[in-house]
Amino acid sequence: MIEIKQVTKKFQDKKVFVTALKHVSFTVEKGQVVGLLGENGAGKTTLLRSIATLLTPTEGSITVEGYDTTKQPDEIKKRIGVLFGGETGLYNRLTARENLEYFAAMYGLSKHETKVRIDDLATMFGMRDYLNRKVGGFSKGMRQKVAIARTLIHNPDIILFDEPTTGLDITSSNIFRQFIHQLKQDGKTIVFSSHIMEEVSTLCDSVAMMHKGELVYHGDLDALYKTEGSNDLNYIFMSKLVRGSEYHAS
Ligand SMILES: Nc1ncnc2c1ncn2[C@@H]1O[C@H](COP(=O)(O)OP(=O)(O)OP(=O)(O)O)[C@@H](O)[C@H]1O
Ligand SMILES: [Mg+2]
Repeated sequence: MIEIKQVTKKFQDKKVFVTALKHVSFTVEKGQVVGLLGENGAGKTTLLRSIATLLTPTEGSITVEGYDTTKQPDEIKKRIGVLFGGETGLYNRLTARENLEYFAAMYGLSKHETKVRIDDLATMFGMRDYLNRKVGGFSKGMRQKVAIARTLIHNPDIILFDEPTTGLDITSSNIFRQFIHQLKQDGKTIVFSSHIMEEVSTLCDSVAMMHKGELVYHGDLDALYKTEGSNDLNYIFMSKLVRGSEYHAS
C-alpha cells in the first residue's frame, strides 16, 4: 500500500521556485494497477521519484507498506522496483546477463536465485538470444526490456514505471502490457505514468490525473466511466483538465 498525504514539492531553479506538486493526496491499495496521467510538466515523474525515495517532499508525507520515504528509505528500496523513462541504468560494457547479475548481487540474491530469476525473465521477455551480448550494441527496445528485467530482478511487491513503453515498438509494448497483466495476477502493486490512454484504460484499475502539480482526479476507472457516461478516457481526461483548471481558477 502507498499512502500519499498532502504532498507538495517545490524546486528552486536559480531564484525561481517551481511547485511541481501541490497538496497531492491519494492511496494505492495492494494489488492495484494505477495509471498516472498528465500533460508534460504535470508532476508525474516528480511524484514517482518521491514515492521511490529519490526526492523529499517539501511538505506532506509518503509511506510505502507503512514505511516513511524520508525516514526509512532503505526499507522501501528493498520492496520496490523502479524504472524511469530514458534512464535504463545499464552498463554498456557488460552483457545483459552480467547487468542483471550485478543488480541481483546488489539486492543480495544468491547465485542460484539469480540464475533462476534471469532465466525466467529472459524467457518472459524473449531475451534469450541476446542475453550474452554487450548492452552497448543493443537497440532501444532490447535495452528497455533488459531495463525492465533489472527493475524486477529482486521480485519487488511494488513497481513504479515512468513511461515504460515510450520508444518501444508495437511488439515490445504488447509484451510489456502482457507482463503487467502477469504482475497484476501475481498480486503486485503497480503505478505507472503514460501518455497512451489506451494503455491506461486496458491495464489499470484506477487512474490518477495530474494537472500543473495538482491531482484533478483519482479513482476507479469503471466508476469514472459510469459518472462521466463515457468510456473514452481521452475525452474524460481532457474535460477533467478543463474543469480542473476552471475549478482552481475560481
Ligand atoms: N530538478 C528539478 N529542478 C527544477 N524543476 C524541476 C525539477 N524536476 C522537475 N521540475 C519541474 O517540475 C515540474 C514537473 O515536472 P515533472 O518532470 O514531474 O513532469 P511530468 O509530468 O513527468 O512531465 P513529462 O510528461 O514531460 O515527463 C516541471 O515544471 C518541471 O520543470
Ligand atoms: Mg515525466
